[in-house]
Amino acid sequence: MRKRIFAVALVLILGMFCMSCGTKAPQRNTGKIKIGVTIYDQYDTFLTQLMECFVKEVGTEAELVVFNASQSQQTQNSQVKKMIEDGCDVICVNLVDRTDPTTVIDAAKKADVPIIFFNRELVEGDIGRWNRLFYVGADAAQSGTMEGELAADLCCRDTGVDKNGDGKIQYVVLEGEAGHQDAIVRCEYSVDALVRAGVEVDRLGSAIANWNRAQAQTKTTQFIESNNGIELVMSNNDDMALGAIDAYEASGIDRDNWPVFFGIDGTDVGLAAVRDGLLSGTVYNDKEGQAGAMSRLALTLARGGSIEDIADEYDVTEGKYIRLPYAKVTLENVEEYLGR
Ligand code: BGC
Ligand code: CA
Repeated sequence: MRKRIFAVALVLILGMFCMSCGTKAPQRNTGKIKIGVTIYDQYDTFLTQLMECFVKEVGTEAELVVFNASQSQQTQNSQVKKMIEDGCDVICVNLVDRTDPTTVIDAAKKADVPIIFFNRELVEGDIGRWNRLFYVGADAAQSGTMEGELAADLCCRDTGVDKNGDGKIQYVVLEGEAGHQDAIVRCEYSVDALVRAGVEVDRLGSAIANWNRAQAQTKTTQFIESNNGIELVMSNNDDMALGAIDAYEASGIDRDNWPVFFGIDGTDVGLAAVRDGLLSGTVYNDKEGQAGAMSRLALTLARGGSIEDIADEYDVTEGKYIRLPYAKVTLENVEEYLGR
C-alpha cells in the first residue's frame, strides 16, 4: 500500500512538472518520453537523496514514474513488467537482489526496453546478457581506500586517537548489507589503506547493520557493553556512523572518551555531522553526478541514441559502465559540499 502511495504521490508531483512542459517533440516518440524507476527501499537515506537529484535532473524533459520495491525482488520484477506495459521508454533499476536480475533482464530484452541499473551493481555475466543494459554508480574500492586514508591521516596527526596509548588503534567496523558490492569492498579497502599508511591496528569486532542507523546503534551499544576502549569506528556509510554516535550519546560515556568516527556518502545528515565535529570525515558519494549521468543516459537512449553519444561527458567503460569518482570530506572542505 505504502509503495503505491509513494508511486502515486511521485506521479502527481511529476505530473505537475509535466504540465509546464514545452512542445519540443523527442525524435523517436510522438508523445512524451517516459522513464520508469524502481528503488530497492524508499527508506534508504542515500537513495532518497539520489532520487531527489534525479527528479531535478530530468526536470520537464520526461514523465517519470518511481516505484519502491520495499526490499522484495518479486515486487520489483512486477514493477518492471508494469512499467514496460505502461510504455516506459527506458527503465532505471536499483536492484533489490543484485545477484538476481534475470526476470528484469528477460522482460526488458523481450520488449526491447533498455535498462539502466544503478547503485546496486549486477555481476558481469548478467550485464553482458544484452547490449542495452547499463550501469551507473561509483568505484567501491575508491571509497574504501579514501575512508581508510582519512582515518590514517587523523591517527598520524593526532596522538589523542590512541586513547590507551598502546601504539595501536582499537577499531570496529560497521558493515552494510551482506552481499552488497559496496559493503564487501569498503570493508576490505578501508582497513587495507589504514594499515598501508603504517597505522598499527587491533580489530575489536565488526557487525552488519544493513546501512541502517537504528541497527548500527544497537550493534554499537553491544560493542560498548563488551569492549570499552574502542578508539575508531569505521562505517560503510554515514547513516551507520551516525547510529554509532547515537549509541555513544545514549551510553552516557563522556565525550572525551568517545572514539573517532568515519563514514561514506556525504548525505545531508552526514555532512552536518562533519561540520559539527561529530564525524571526523566522510567520503562523498556523488549523487548529483550519478543522477546527472542516469538522466543524460536515459534521455539519450529514449531518443534512440547510444551510450557512446555521451562518452565525451562521462567516463564510459566497456560500453556499459559509468562510474563517478568519490571525494574526501573533512571539516576543512565540508562547506563546499553542504552548499550543493
Ligand atoms: C550507499 C549506502 C546505501 C546503499 C544502498 C551505498 O552506495 O553508500 O548508503 O544504503 O548504497 O544500496
Ligand atoms: Ca590504542
